[in-house]
Amino acid sequence: MNVLKNYWELGSRVADIVEHVLALPEPKLILPTGSTPLSLYKELVNRQLDWSSVTTYNLDEYVDNTIQDQSYRYFMVENLFKHTNMDEDNIYFPGDTAVWPQMDYGIGVDLCLLGIGGNGHIAFNEPGSSFQSETRIVDLTEETIKDNSRFFPTIDDVPTQAVTMGLKSIMSSKKIVLMVSGEHKLNIMNVAMAGEVTESVPASILQNHKNVKIYYCE
Ligand code: F6R
Repeated sequence: MNVLKNYWELGSRVADIVEHVLALPEPKLILPTGSTPLSLYKELVNRQLDWSSVTTYNLDEYVDNTIQDQSYRYFMVENLFKHTNMDEDNIYFPGDTAVWPQMDYGIGVDLCLLGIGGNGHIAFNEPGSSFQSETRIVDLTEETIKDNSRFFPTIDDVPTQAVTMGLKSIMSSKKIVLMVSGEHKLNIMNVAMAGEVTESVPASILQNHKNVKIYYCE
């Protein structure tokens, strides 16, 4: 595990890894939304890298979201995509069902970036998700709905379902970087990375991956 001085250093260190991957021919990335990757996206924008041949897949997207500026597509456009030279045709979200087979089979992802939920979820694979899971629609747990309500006017506006890449799909990435920001995530991170590998803690599946790096800051 890499312990960083602060949130900005976390963004900068992970940006080094992304920059390296972007130099590969036709790189493919899986990207998260949320609070954790914001310093990374800011740093990537500042570096003005060449994204012209990059393909990105986002981990998840809400279903039946009525507040458009809380959609994960909007988040990505505002925080990263619109500041780069990315080809719009190379940006994929799992809300589009036509993309599911691509996400699940053989897309040869070079790097998957992840955050972790307070209950150990990765993407929206909530506790109890099968380690064999693929892209699908899931019900969000009460804890996740509560966590996400900080971005919505009231808790009743938070979507209760999402489309998420599955755990099996995520594990097929060549390299995975788990970003963890905040002391409140320390315990779940330790449980996931040093405790039992169990579907009750979805992130624990990462212990079975050969190329995972964890970046943590308080
Ligand atoms: C979002 C995603 C989620 C978040 C997790 C942590 O695309 O995949 O698993 O990574 O809920 O969210 P933050 O970073 O807001 O604490």
